[in-house]
Amino acid sequence: MKKIILTGDRPTGRLHVGHYVGSLRRRVELQNSGEFDKINIMIADAQALTDNFDNPEKVRQNIIEVALDYLACGLDPKKSTLFIQSHVAELTEFTFYYMNLVTVARLQRNPTVKNEIQMRNFEQSIPVGFFNYPISQAADITAFKANVVPVGEYQIPMIEQTREIVHKFNTVYAPVLVEPKALLPENDACGRLPGIDGKAKMSKSLGNCIYLADSADDVKKKIMSMYTDPTHLLVSDPGHLEGNTVFTYLDAFCKDEHFERYLPEYANLDELKGHYTRGGLGDVKVKKFLNNVMQEELEPIRTRRKEFEKDIPEIYNILKAGSEDARNTAAKTLSEVKSAMRINYFEDEELIKAQAEKYEAE
Ligand code: TRP
Repeated sequence: MKKIILTGDRPTGRLHVGHYVGSLRRRVELQNSGEFDKINIMIADAQALTDNFDNPEKVRQNIIEVALDYLACGLDPKKSTLFIQSHVAELTEFTFYYMNLVTVARLQRNPTVKNEIQMRNFEQSIPVGFFNYPISQAADITAFKANVVPVGEYQIPMIEQTREIVHKFNTVYAPVLVEPKALLPENDACGRLPGIDGKAKMSKSLGNCIYLADSADDVKKKIMSMYTDPTHLLVSDPGHLEGNTVFTYLDAFCKDEHFERYLPEYANLDELKGHYTRGGLGDVKVKKFLNNVMQEELEPIRTRRKEFEKDIPEIYNILKAGSEDARNTAAKTLSEVKSAMRINYFEDEELIKAQAEKYEAE
């Protein structure tokens, strides 16, 4: 079977290091592994509108930001199809048909939707489009027959919902669609990178994000201000790792080789953690190390971003070409879906002949 990837992001802001360790870094590795037949990366503007319908300008402005972040990280339009969701009209058609295969109760049970409804205070006034977005996400994935979907942990319920839709479709109509699997981040820290204030999630409104496009200075300032262990007052005090943002970031970013370069007194992160918990290791030293580690990873991204920023029209061209390519793929699957659903009347000569004969016989 072919190996096909689809994944994407909502364009509601620049991408941050949480996006990076949660999925972006992995996508680039997968792209460069050469193991995949097709890689589709989508800017999910239509999905972003499901809870930003009254702020289309925000979505519009952030298309280019997300595209720049993608390219800066090393997604390569020669190897991956980068496209815009709203420009693949077929996706809405899939969504319309899949809506018949899902109950309202099932959508209400979707934990991600539940959580987001709470976060957005929608309660009794949930827009239908928002409520429906897991179905639209199933359309995104199945239109490309993707079997691998690299996403963060909070997206698992969406993949589960997609698998159910695929199963139902294939059972009721014909086995046209492919059941996808989520490809999750390498470890817990990558999956749920907290904000620099230690809050569970990075969010623009909390002002606790490190963005991929942040300057070296900003990154350093943010790292030096990171939440650590409030009980670790003196260097000699034993420190705690649980909920300690600096160590969570090290779990996500640090490799053994970084110790050779920046902190040769320790062989690896376990040794550093050991010293911290025993006492005698100050936060500033750990933060400086984290800064070195993160700068090393972010510097090439920043430099590439600057290069791409020099030719913005070209980026729109890339997205336009990608969207056309994505449309071709989606149209092929849609035609199979419509045949399976028996709504391909004009291509079905058998149908036309049979109807004609029925009336001739009368
Ligand atoms: N929901 C994803 C996010 O918020 C974006 C997205 C839309 C997506 N459709 C998708 C991700 C399909 C994976 C597969 O970032």
